[in-house]
Amino acid sequence: MHICVQCVTVALALIGLLAGQSAAADWANGERIAERWCAGCHVVAPGQSRGSDTVPTFAEIGSSKRLDDDALTAFLTDPTHSRMPPLSLARSEIADLVAYIARQSR
Ligand code: HEC
Repeated sequence: MHICVQCVTVALALIGLLAGQSAAADWANGERIAERWCAGCHVVAPGQSRGSDTVPTFAEIGSSKRLDDDALTAFLTDPTHSRMPPLSLARSEIADLVAYIARQSR
């Protein structure tokens, strides 16, 4: 039987990549969550035309000095003190959202 060395190398590299990604925050997943759960009120992406103008956009939140990663995580873990509806997000979803919001500031 003939084993393609390049194929094995590529397969191993892909496995490594996937394993690495599941551990770190995944901003692309954060984007999906934002579009599904946040876009009704927040402008979550530069091109979005829907949303309310009385709530901060994700770009504003991302560039806010007050809302650093820790403050955002704390807020999203328990946002009940605000006008926002209670969100029940998993820790990993919060990390993904924070990573996505951080990208918006650039
Ligand atoms: C029903 C409307 C609504 C939805 C849905 C919503 N928000 Fe908000 N959000 C608000 C409003 C209104 C504010 C304005 C500030 C406040 O209430 O204190 C806000 C403020 C925020 C802030 C700023 C908090 C601060 O301390 O300044 C963050 C961060 C935020 N939202 C994240 C999210 C994320 C992430 C989602 C989706 C998972 C989401 N929101 C979904 C209405 C909403």
